[in-house]
Amino acid sequence: MKKVGVAILGLGVVGGGTYKILTEHREFYRKTQDVDIVVESVLELNRERALSLGVPEEKIASNIAEVVCNPDVNIVVEVIGGVGVAREFVLSALNAGKTVVTSNKELVCKFSHELERAAKRQNAGLYFEASCVGGVPIIRTLLDGLQANHITSMMGIINGTTNYILTKMSEEGTSYEDALKQAQALGYAEANPTADVEGFDAAYKLSILSSLAFHTKVPFAKIYREGISSVTQEDIAFGKELGYVLKLLAIGKQTEHGIEVRVHPTYVKKEHPLASVNDSFNAVYLTGDAVEDVMLFGRGAGALPTGSAIVSDIIYAATHSENRYSTFKNNATAEKDVKFVNDFKSAYYLRLTVADKAGMLSKISAIFGRHNISIVEMIQKAAIQDGKVPLILITHVTKELAIRNAVEKINALEGVASVDTVLRVVS
Ligand code: HSE
Repeated sequence: MKKVGVAILGLGVVGGGTYKILTEHREFYRKTQDVDIVVESVLELNRERALSLGVPEEKIASNIAEVVCNPDVNIVVEVIGGVGVAREFVLSALNAGKTVVTSNKELVCKFSHELERAAKRQNAGLYFEASCVGGVPIIRTLLDGLQANHITSMMGIINGTTNYILTKMSEEGTSYEDALKQAQALGYAEANPTADVEGFDAAYKLSILSSLAFHTKVPFAKIYREGISSVTQEDIAFGKELGYVLKLLAIGKQTEHGIEVRVHPTYVKKEHPLASVNDSFNAVYLTGDAVEDVMLFGRGAGALPTGSAIVSDIIYAATHSENRYSTFKNNATAEKDVKFVNDFKSAYYLRLTVADKAGMLSKISAIFGRHNISIVEMIQKAAIQDGKVPLILITHVTKELAIRNAVEKINALEGVASVDTVLRVVS
C-alpha cells in the first residue's frame, strides 16, 4: 500500500483538529482510499501542546529545515496563518518539492501567483480548500463540479465569527463585545479579530473564490470592504421590523461591465435562503448559466470542520499523481482586459435623525428624486428627543455613487441632524 508522510506546521486550533482526524481515521483511509497517511513530523514551538495532543516526542521538529529535509515527508500542512513565517515556510517546502496544503487565506489571496510558480517549478501540489469557508467544499466545487458553467454570481456568508456575532445580537440581544468574546472562546475568530470584524478575512476569501469563479486573478485591492464593528442593535431591530436579517455578505458578480466584488453588512429578506444561515455556519449561493442556483452550507470555522477540508486535500494529493492548479493565468493582477465595477448597483437602507416638522420629508424625497433614486418604503418613528425623529428609508436598486451624493446633500439639509446609517439591501 502507498504510504504518504505528512508534516503539520502549527498545532493551534486547526492544526490540532487536523492531527486528530489524521490519526483517528488512519485505518479508515487505508481501507477506503488504499493509502496509508502517516503524520511524520509536526513543527510546534509549544512542545507541551504537541505532547498533550499525543504527538510522539521524536516527531516534534525544532525547525523548518528539519521538516523539509525529512525524506519521509511528502505533504506539508501549513496552519500557522499570516504572511510572514507562513510564506517563508511554505516556499521552502515547495522549493524542496513537497506538496503544500494550507488553510491560510491571506497567504493564498496575496501570494497565490508566487506559490503556484514555485509549486509548478518543482512539480509539487498546492491545495487550499481549507482557506475558504472551513469545512464547506467550495474550492473543489468551483474547480470540479461547476466547471461547465459561466458563474454569474456568488453571494456568501463566509466568515463564521461575524455571522455568530450578528446572530447573537439579533436573536438574543447580546452586545457586540460579548458576542465577539464568545466567538473567540469557541475558536472561530482569527488571532486578531479585526481581520474578522472589519471584513478582511471575508475579503481574502472572496478574492480567492472569485478568482476561481471568474478565471482571472481578483486582487484583494479590487474588493470594496466594510466590516460590522459599527452595526447597532437599533438597525438590527429596525431591519427585523421591515422583514430583513442583517448579514455580512461577500458578493462577487460577473456583469456586462466587468467584475464586481464587495464585502459589507447587508440586509437580506427573511425569506432568502441566506437569511436562515445562523451562528458560525457559512453558506455560499452560486448562480451558473447552465446549472442555475446552487447553495452550499456548513461550518466555516472550527478545528474539525477546517481539519476536514485540510484532510480532504491531503487525500486528494495522496491519491492523484497529477497536481491541479488554478484555471487562470495566476499573476499578481488580473489580465489587462479585465474590468472591475466600482459604481455597483444595490438597494439601500438609510436611517436619518431629522427634525419633526412640516416639509422635511418633501425636501428629502426631492433630493432622492434629483438623484433618480426611488423609495420603496419609509417609516417615521416617534420622537426621541428635542423634537427629533428617526426616519428609516428603503430604496429601489440604484447606483452606489448616486446614494453617496444624495446622502451628502441630505446631510447638509437644515433640519437633518444626522444620516446615521447607510446599509445595502438584497431582496
Ligand atoms: N475566523 C474565520 C471565521 C475562521 O470566523 O470564519 C475561518 O476562516
